[in-house]
Amino acid sequence: MASHSDASAQAPLPALAGIRACVFDAYGTMFDVAAAAARERAALGAQAQPLAQLWRQKQLEYTWLRSLMGAYADFWQLTGDALDYALDSLGIADPALRDRLLDLYSRLDAYPEVPGVLAALRKGGLACAILSNGAPAMLASAVANAGVGDMLAATLSVDGLRIYKPDPRVYQLAVDRLGVAASEICFLSSNAWDVAGSAHFGFRAVWVNRFGQPAERLPGRPVAELRDLAGLPALLGLG
Ligand code: LAC
Repeated sequence: MASHSDASAQAPLPALAGIRACVFDAYGTMFDVAAAAARERAALGAQAQPLAQLWRQKQLEYTWLRSLMGAYADFWQLTGDALDYALDSLGIADPALRDRLLDLYSRLDAYPEVPGVLAALRKGGLACAILSNGAPAMLASAVANAGVGDMLAATLSVDGLRIYKPDPRVYQLAVDRLGVAASEICFLSSNAWDVAGSAHFGFRAVWVNRFGQPAERLPGRPVAELRDLAGLPALLGLG
């Protein structure tokens, strides 16, 4: 029975017509990378926020630098290395705290809207997948912790390629695995540089600008921008 709330009655954003699959970045997009430091606020005090920021920034820098150096190490190692740098930089020497932070990182909170959005997309007939720098074990743990494994057609890691985003071979993984054209994939990332890389590759990218950041000056533009994932089904005509 048709009604105003009938999902099929809505039209997608024209720039997102013909999408067959939604592919999500993991860290910062589905999973809250600041959650580990936030849960240790009692120990970190005012340093929780600077630590979370520096930890994330270094983790990403190490992906780009190691890719350029041809010196791949998996994302779990880089996450620990980046944490060590950040703790050192802030003058924090506490091995037990370091271990607790890393353990928390292996089971980060998903953003609250994630399960509902995945359910709506699947109900609308779209395949959903993760495409991430994360090492397979980290991703499996985060997905299980969020309880969203049943809603994902695939959880794809760069680890088999031994190169990080935004190398085009990483984005090609999703095309190959899902069996749809790049232009039929809507790619979601909160990382503006990942949005640029994926759009330059040929995905239709939506920037989940959770942190109100300015646009990157890089090739590859998003077709739309959201504050969080809650608005995604409506953009795709499922809202
Ligand atoms: C990822 C990082 C880039 O999940 O957030 O791939």
